[in-house]
Amino acid sequence: MATKTSHSKTIQKIGVLTSGGDAPGMNAALRSVVRSCAYYKIPCCGITRGYQGMIEGKIKPLGPRSVNNIINKGGTVLKSARSEEFRTKEGRKKAFANLQNNGIDALIVIGGDGSFTGGLIFQQEYGIPVIGIPGTIDNDIYGTSHTIGYDTAMNTVVEAVDKIRDTAISHNRLFFVEVMGRDAGHIALNTGIGAGAEEILIPEEDMGLDRLLDSLKRSKKSGKLSSIVMVAEGDKIGKNVFELAEHIEDNLPDYEVRVSVLGHMQRGGAPTCFDRVLASRMGLKAVEALRDGVSGNMVGMADGKMIFTPLDKAIKGESKIDTELVRVSEIMRL
Ligand code: F6P
Repeated sequence: MATKTSHSKTIQKIGVLTSGGDAPGMNAALRSVVRSCAYYKIPCCGITRGYQGMIEGKIKPLGPRSVNNIINKGGTVLKSARSEEFRTKEGRKKAFANLQNNGIDALIVIGGDGSFTGGLIFQQEYGIPVIGIPGTIDNDIYGTSHTIGYDTAMNTVVEAVDKIRDTAISHNRLFFVEVMGRDAGHIALNTGIGAGAEEILIPEEDMGLDRLLDSLKRSKKSGKLSSIVMVAEGDKIGKNVFELAEHIEDNLPDYEVRVSVLGHMQRGGAPTCFDRVLASRMGLKAVEALRDGVSGNMVGMADGKMIFTPLDKAIKGESKIDTELVRVSEIMRL
């Protein structure tokens, strides 16, 4: 079915939810949606625990004072979930009934591509206008230069790696640092440059084990006593970060290797100013879109401006890594 990207009805009440992996700045986006609704005098309801909460009827009215003091908070006060039930027709039927019972006739979904897929199917089945706001630390969504949470996560990673560098230098060690990014290397590539990593392994490029070995040999020869290798969790080299470390120790016994997996700490913490501003802009734009008859679209940012991308494109499109950054990282390791 073709995606509907406009609607002609006057919106009576907007429901907002956060879904998928949480990201710092989701609260700022929620605050923006709620206050923008208040500005335009459109009633607004928060749906707890994403689509699962929609199925369970966990819906409550929100006004400007309900979102006091959350702009600086990490996580999502609405809570998030990945709902298996919403993948079924029966689940979505229950969810629609709950929206109807609450008078909600439009949705704003803050999340990643899985969340947008759910929203799109729902819009196609029930004609509920949906607008997506990209919230994920991975930055792996087509149609926006930045997703909400990405900037904060990068700053968290750089801060952690700076600390790892202190201990790496003190012991002349080689550290493998695994960062998030199931399918995307944005975090690894940017923080690798920002934290001065020797090598950066990302899912978009298959660097090969031999090249990694050669590069580490060269770096030792050039006089470097300690190094950081940044590894995206979904890297293509075919080994997990511990196997990689073992392989290097087996083949380059001169190196004393340690592994640090940063894990979910990358998803927490207070959002940066950049993420708060981005979230505030996107929330307002999402409400204005529904008001102006736009639906089935995601709000994004390109060249610093708010733009729209049809949800099906945002879901299917690839958010490519910047090859210029790969070049920068290669030269910086000399
Ligand atoms: O938010 C995106 C992400 O951080 C991925 O990089 C990671 O693979 C995934 O979420 C893990 O999330 P969870 O543990 O919530 O399933």
